[in-house]
Amino acid sequence: MKTFAIVSALAAVGLVSASPTPTEQQKPNKRASLPTVTASGNAFWAGKDRFYVRGIDYQPGGSSGNSDPLADETVCKRDIAEFKKLGVNTIRVYMTDNSKNHDTCMNLLADDGIYVILDANNPKYSINRFSPAKSYNADYLQSVFATIDEFIKYDNTLAFFSGNEVINDMPNSTLSARYVKATTRDMRQYIANRGYRQVPVGYSAADVEQNRMQLAQYMNCGTDDERSDFFAFNDYSWCNTDFKTSGWDVKVKNFTDYGLPIFLSEYGCIDNGRDFGEVQALMSSDMTGVYSGGLVYEYTYEENHFGIVQISGDTAKEMDGFTKYQSALSKYPAPTGAAGAASTTHSVACPTKDSNWLVDSTLLPEMPSKAKDYMKNGAGTGPGLDGPGSQDSGSDDIPDATPGSGVATGTPTGTSSSSSTASASDNAAGPSFNGPMNKGPFVVTGVAVLFSLIGTLLL
Ligand SMILES: *[C@@H]1O[C@H](CO)[C@@H](O)[C@H](O)[C@H]1NC(C)=O
Ligand SMILES: *[C@@H]1O[C@H](CO)[C@@H](O)[C@H](O)[C@H]1NC(C)=O
Repeated sequence: MKTFAIVSALAAVGLVSASPTPTEQQKPNKRASLPTVTASGNAFWAGKDRFYVRGIDYQPGGSSGNSDPLADETVCKRDIAEFKKLGVNTIRVYMTDNSKNHDTCMNLLADDGIYVILDANNPKYSINRFSPAKSYNADYLQSVFATIDEFIKYDNTLAFFSGNEVINDMPNSTLSARYVKATTRDMRQYIANRGYRQVPVGYSAADVEQNRMQLAQYMNCGTDDERSDFFAFNDYSWCNTDFKTSGWDVKVKNFTDYGLPIFLSEYGCIDNGRDFGEVQALMSSDMTGVYSGGLVYEYTYEENHFGIVQISGDTAKEMDGFTKYQSALSKYPAPTGAAGAASTTHSVACPTKDSNWLVDSTLLPEMPSKAKDYMKNGAGTGPGLDGPGSQDSGSDDIPDATPGSGVATGTPTGTSSSSSTASASDNAAGPSFNGPMNKGPFVVTGVAVLFSLIGTLLL
């Protein structure tokens, strides 16, 4: 920026002739036109306009390919051209290497008006659902914070996920929710303490009927410093023809007055012909008061058959699903105006313990003391994807934090009244959903599954 200012000043007085071709120095100017996204009320906003995620999940190589597509110029250039053609405004990237530079790919994405949602975890640095206390430690948080350091400088960084599908359909996995929530708290505190732009932080939940509501309530209950900025879940239930048959009407009802922005972090059933009828529903007044769009799973065609382009070296071949998603996006643009969004954010009541939800305390684990230093001094160089890993670096015994002792600043924007009623008041029995265990994506997309496998191997 500085260089640019000096060059243009010189150009203005005729000392340097203005170059007819764009230079590196001029690019930041162009990118500055992409507004940053904030979470406010129960929606996202890009400047003054409501923002909907109209995106795609980007994980070339699948969940087992532990590589960072945004650190490889050849890879991202090949795919950004397709993203643009597709018409998406957001991609989600599951794994990034926090020891590498991302200027080229992030800036090319910004040039095309594309935002990025980043998972702050990766297979080696993540919460292990069956050994959560041990995997929540300073080494883990150093990696998470280093990912924040690397990406928060880009205007097109839309949000961070503090975890992906850590909690699954096994009741005992719900006990790991405390550590995921603690990670969310720590990430938000880090962003506030480092004086960074307030990029929203939240969790991406698996498509699990028996704990979906409790988990959502849990992530949005308690003091403001412990709550998320949004909630997201993966949803593969639209295998039928419409909003009602799919049961999405119940998911709207259940999340009405949830108090935070919600979007689908993965969607797209594959045994319905893939006409992406979901887009019409997501962009209609049936849903826009509660949901802020979603991300289709997924871009590259992998073993699980969800992808819409076939990759071969430097080329990306568009498949049938590509054209179908492209037409759905163009046929159903984002609505204008607030489209029913609530203007205030609020908490909900914490869920109570039952046979599917085993968490019986509202207290969160205390941040590891060494991690507190990062708040002051920064996280330093990230370990990348091939570091020693963190899952076994901690101890099984972590004291609980004093409630509300976390973030001094950086609470969600908007009014934070504490609503005492949970949003879920509806007990209508919807059609039974295709649980994640029946669908490919859980097994295959679940980076978390991979995490727990690695955890098991290490034991
Ligand atoms: C959690 O429950 C599952 C299924 O009941 C069981 O297989 C697994 O061993 C349990 N894990 C732990 C850590 O208790
Ligand atoms: C809606 O909420 C009710 C009550 O909490 C719950 O039993 C039901 O499973 C929820 N449905 C969905 C689709 O989340």
